[in-house]
Amino acid sequence: MLKMDNIVKKFGTIVANDNVSIQLNKGEILAIIGENGAGKTTLMKILYGMYQPDEGQILINGKPVVFKNPVDAIAHKIGMVQQHFMLFDDFTVAENIVYGREPKKYVFFDRTKCNREVEKLCDIYQLPINPKRRVYECPVGVQQRIEILKVLYQDVDVIIFDEPTAVLIPQEVDELLKTIKKLASMGKSIILITHKLNEVMNVADTVTVMRNGRHVKTLRKSETSIEELSYLMVGRKLEKQLIKDTPKDKVILDVKDMVLKKEGEKSLLDHVNLTVHTGEIVGIAGVSGNGQSELIQCLTGLTKVDSGTITLNGKDITNHTVREVRESGVAVIPEDRYQYGTAKNITVKESLLMGHEWRDDLQKYGIFRQKEIKRRANKLIEQFGVKVSSQEQKCGELSGGNMQKAIVAREVDHNTPFLIAAEPTRGVDIGAIEFIHSQLVQKRENGDGILLISSELTEIMALADTIYVMYEGKIAGKLKNGEATKEKIGILMAGGSLSEQNQKSS
Ligand SMILES: Nc1ncnc2c1ncn2[C@@H]1O[C@H](COP(=O)(O)OP(=O)(O)OP(=O)(O)O)[C@@H](O)[C@H]1O
Ligand SMILES: [Mg+2]
Repeated sequence: MLKMDNIVKKFGTIVANDNVSIQLNKGEILAIIGENGAGKTTLMKILYGMYQPDEGQILINGKPVVFKNPVDAIAHKIGMVQQHFMLFDDFTVAENIVYGREPKKYVFFDRTKCNREVEKLCDIYQLPINPKRRVYECPVGVQQRIEILKVLYQDVDVIIFDEPTAVLIPQEVDELLKTIKKLASMGKSIILITHKLNEVMNVADTVTVMRNGRHVKTLRKSETSIEELSYLMVGRKLEKQLIKDTPKDKVILDVKDMVLKKEGEKSLLDHVNLTVHTGEIVGIAGVSGNGQSELIQCLTGLTKVDSGTITLNGKDITNHTVREVRESGVAVIPEDRYQYGTAKNITVKESLLMGHEWRDDLQKYGIFRQKEIKRRANKLIEQFGVKVSSQEQKCGELSGGNMQKAIVAREVDHNTPFLIAAEPTRGVDIGAIEFIHSQLVQKRENGDGILLISSELTEIMALADTIYVMYEGKIAGKLKNGEATKEKIGILMAGGSLSEQNQKSS
């Protein structure tokens, strides 16, 4: 029913799509995979009318169509679930879903009909939701469901999902994958972009692999494997991380009895005790929203704690300013790269300089040493394989994963004794995950301490020496890597206790 034929799209000298063709049948789930910057999002933005192709065409049921904007695409029954939700927080669920196509009574908004239509829609697609709830009260998974219902309300046949699972917790991911399968069984055609090959193996019928703007191969899921797909994506075999023993004789970070309160509510951080040693990666596991973000904010000076102490390398840094904390030897890969990691309107060179601007080799008497700044930027871009057209490119133009790689490069380059790495591989392709992991492992071997906050259990289990699990602002448990299993961590993440299990095993 849908074809994209020999699509070419250039941005200046970058060829984002180089003669790419795909096709989609009714009720089919097509996964598109590929490294960061391979051109997946660009191709989908063309299909959704956000970009015009330089060459090539889109065909629907054999007929060529031209989309000047998303309104045209929607009119041709193509919808897209945005990765960065575009919802009005203060509106109700139903108001958001009908936005732009509100049911009217004469000239007035018909609220009763609006709520009824949304209820009907939820019924048809079996996506339960309370239409009268305000969006700000809804967790991320529900907000995504609203985005999906918004697209379904537009009565489309093709639904594009661009990395929909990057922001979801594991239970929400399962839920979403089920929804995608259900929509396909009801005759919708789905395009799913993801870096998670297990998701591909779970739901896709067909897989298209892209590399460097080109179409590499399209395969039936039933005829391929995770190994083959990762090889096609990256063009080489991935190595498993080797973790050596390191001496852990000194404490780098010591958090004692840290409390952060919120007026009238339960403590956001409830007597947190945490220690990171030299040469140690400490992993924080937990369902997101259980205090991890607050922990990072307190450790980095963004939020002041109500009580308790934070000691870094023997020095008390409790409630110090962000700059003081940084200068005491803390580097941070923040969890939300768009909000805290960089700014969309600055260049890659400037982003790589952020936080390093006082370094003696990069400025003298407050005047930047441009030559040195450029040399360093080039070195980091090369070393970390950040795909850019030049270091003068705007950060907002980078593909999601490349922006993340640039932030990791900048923070690792601080060479601090302590690094906070929050979701360091979110949205990053499997080749780059391997590279970022190797950087963390190397830092650990240098004798530095790392606090790794991640919603990916596999990431924590692969890298961390010690694993803390957070639940409702508390440390629910602490496990050595050797004794930690997915099951044990899972019990703690869900608010359970290990004592019963321990009794059994002793
Ligand atoms: N608006 C733009 N201006 C300039 N260059 C762009 C623009 N949008 C994308 N690019 C470039 O086109 C290339 C492909 O980017 P795209 O976002 O399509 O990659 P992707 O496959 O979606 O990657 P990721 O997995 O990281 O999301 C990248 O090199 C990117 O820098
Ligand atoms: Mg993308």
